[in-house]
Amino acid sequence: MNNKFSKILKKKNRSKIICLTAYSKNIAQIIDRHCDIVLVGDSLGSVLYNYKSTRSVTLDIMIEHSKSVRMGIKKSLMVVDMPHNTYRNSSEALRNAKVIISKTKCDAVKLEGGKKIYNIVKTLIKNKIPVMGHLGILPQSAKNFKAKGKKTIERNNLLKDAKILDELGVFSIVLECVESSLAKEITKNIKIPTIGIGASVYCDGQVLVTDDLIGLNFIKVRFVKKFANITKQINNAIIRFKNEVKNKKFPKKINSY
Ligand code: KIV
Repeated sequence: MNNKFSKILKKKNRSKIICLTAYSKNIAQIIDRHCDIVLVGDSLGSVLYNYKSTRSVTLDIMIEHSKSVRMGIKKSLMVVDMPHNTYRNSSEALRNAKVIISKTKCDAVKLEGGKKIYNIVKTLIKNKIPVMGHLGILPQSAKNFKAKGKKTIERNNLLKDAKILDELGVFSIVLECVESSLAKEITKNIKIPTIGIGASVYCDGQVLVTDDLIGLNFIKVRFVKKFANITKQINNAIIRFKNEVKNKKFPKKINSY
């Protein structure tokens, strides 16, 4: 693993890991300066394409967006989600992960699941493909979007899954909507960093969908905080443009040939 990975691993118990999503070059360019990890998440299915779930996202869609994101990244580690039905067995996963890496030049891929994808993750890592894990709510297979880790059996299984992924050699694990005390316990009990989304302050890092935090997406869920209202700013700019065009204030001579 290269320097980018060791930098992230060293942050465990020291300083928070910052991870955000990007689906295009322009956003990637802005967030790259501030992030440790830029994730091309398959959340783009619902955020950009209005799909009912991430299950409709294809390999081609992920690859095209990732190629755009790659152009905007200089320093962050770039992770690409392997979409649903692209890692049903080890050979399919290996073939598709290789395609993702060669076409997008990303640093790692992210897969959802623990024990169930043991052989798949093992194969990727054996073939030197860095993997980020994802536990808790697994949008690619979820029947509901309830927080995980309230029942004892669920807690035990999640902790086991995290330990399995740690031992397999994934370099970090996203914990999505995992109950706070369990997120704390998992974080304490594994060597690699946990990156939370709706999983409390006890994780080693935090990820959000960028469109959510800047207020470009109108999602209302507990784990999102809107740090800006970019929709309002875009709207104001468009109104000013429209008014200037109507009142013949734009384009001026300086804007014309
Ligand atoms: O698809 C995605 O954007 C994700 C993050 C929310 C972790 O998996």
